[in-house]
Amino acid sequence: MPLSLSVAELTDAARIAEIHMAAFGSNAMLLAQFPTPAVRNALKKSIELKALADIDDLKTTVLVVRDSSSELHNNSTISGDNEQTYERRRKEQVIAFAKWSHPVRLDEDYVEPPWIWPTGTNLDILNDWAKKTEAAQSRALGNTPCYRLTFMGTDPAYQRRGAATMMVRWGIEHSRKDGAPAYLESTLEAAPFYRNLGFVDVDNISLEYQVDGTEERSIYEEVSFLYR
Ligand SMILES: CC(C)(COP(=O)(O)OP(=O)(O)OC[C@H]1O[C@@H](n2cnc3c(N)ncnc32)[C@H](O)[C@@H]1OP(=O)(O)O)[C@@H](O)C(=O)NCCC(=O)NCCS
Repeated sequence: MPLSLSVAELTDAARIAEIHMAAFGSNAMLLAQFPTPAVRNALKKSIELKALADIDDLKTTVLVVRDSSSELHNNSTISGDNEQTYERRRKEQVIAFAKWSHPVRLDEDYVEPPWIWPTGTNLDILNDWAKKTEAAQSRALGNTPCYRLTFMGTDPAYQRRGAATMMVRWGIEHSRKDGAPAYLESTLEAAPFYRNLGFVDVDNISLEYQVDGTEERSIYEEVSFLYR
């Protein structure tokens, strides 16, 4: 399967949002933070706008994996395609994305491009979870600058073909080259994947929250990982 890794282009942002929703659409924290179908529909636009900003951000590398086995590279099929069709096919080839934040020293004047959350977002849960993850990173690394994998997803139709491995290895190589650790928080399901690649568990993160519109309380958990 000819998969290729590259840095995302602005024209990939909408496809990145599509893959993000397909990969995380059933994640309990996403459902808690964005509790209705209407909010989740609007979230897709927020993810696209954030991807556009991140692709332009010098302290973030947005990676994509393309499946180049599609007809794009088969000249007989694409003869007669105009430029727009070619671009559409190129976008559709993206099967996975990852965002790596680069190390930032405390004395650097850097502010990450902000998220613009849709109306109806459960900001209490979102902010509580953000505090938990910030505290976990601080416990693991203090203020040590690191590479941080902020989001990664593979289109479910293309999983277990090695796309995520390529994108995580990019971070490992840069972390080694720069002598800066690599850090990430993982869903419980993906934790074995990071262990296989050499990441070491450093912490468990959990948040108890009220399920929207019910009396029910639930607990969401992730694992934080370090690669040194
Ligand atoms: C986790 C995720 C990004 C992996 O993407 P992928 O492109 O399928 O990963 P790879 O093909 O590189 O996987 C390589 C190996 O990792 C392991 N692996 C991958 N996904 C796994 C899973 N869900 N459970 C257990 N092991 C897994 C397998 O050993 C796999 O090799 P194998 O197929 O030969 O057994 C993808 O499942 C996903 O998008 N999940 C939902 C979102 C998410 O949890 N993102 C990561 C947390 S931030």
